[in-house]
Amino acid sequence: MPSDSTVNPTVFGPIGVFDSGFGGLSVLNDIRKRLPAYDYIYLGDNARAPYGSRSFEMVYQFTLQAVRELFSRGCPLVILACNTASAKALRSIQQRDLPTSDDPTRRVLGVIRPTVESIAGTSKTNHIGILATPGTIASRSYDIEISHLHPHFVTTGHACPLWVHLIENGVADTPGAAYFIKTDIEQLLAADPDIDTVILGCTHYPLIIDKIRQYMPANIQLISQGDIVAESLADYLQRHPEMTRRLSYNPSGSGQVEYLTTEKSEKFDSLASLFVGHDVKSRSISL
Ligand code: DGL
Repeated sequence: MPSDSTVNPTVFGPIGVFDSGFGGLSVLNDIRKRLPAYDYIYLGDNARAPYGSRSFEMVYQFTLQAVRELFSRGCPLVILACNTASAKALRSIQQRDLPTSDDPTRRVLGVIRPTVESIAGTSKTNHIGILATPGTIASRSYDIEISHLHPHFVTTGHACPLWVHLIENGVADTPGAAYFIKTDIEQLLAADPDIDTVILGCTHYPLIIDKIRQYMPANIQLISQGDIVAESLADYLQRHPEMTRRLSYNPSGSGQVEYLTTEKSEKFDSLASLFVGHDVKSRSISL
């Protein structure tokens, strides 16, 4: 793993976007629509995905490695476009690792807080469902954050242990996958029939939103994170000109994206191209 000391803070850098695999592409798509002039580095740890069933310590270590990698490539700001990493690693990185790193002015942001902030006024019944990985559900991060910001909301979480596997392996469009997607949705709604708003608390899930909509009753509102995170990042940059000044910005309005994966690049490129709707050429790295 490259060390932090390779960073040169005087050079403008791209925004780093990290996910365990393909999920963060759903967030990157929306961030680029909202903030097209910045440069980005996307890093998917596909070789070690899913993170959802891994221990707290392992998700923390993997995420820290990824953040350090993005810092070493010049990113002054990294978005953890992964709920599992946001739930299990963000706080330790922000409170313990960043302050003792060689450039404590770099920043790492997550996706859970902006998602929870955005749900004010969404539910008529005040019953919120959360679909996410086993790690995110077990962390109770959504329940805790929602109880702080919206104490009148009742939350029910349901873990979908197979969904990320299905997406990472490119088989989410099969009848077998449909069975699991349908069953998990039914189980969530059976646990609380008053739910009228469901947070897709995993950035992989928007990649199969059509399938999810197929099995979700039409009266239920789905909260998908991409545009929420994009809006929250735009707001953050407006409030933090000292960070904005450190980001590489293209006045022509069209920034570059570099794609990195811990998987074989050909394997990443074929699925990533499908998910983002244009050709992707990644580079394979090890963390
Ligand atoms: N996209 C990640 C998330 O938002 C998936 C985690 C995993 O690898 O299981 O939680």
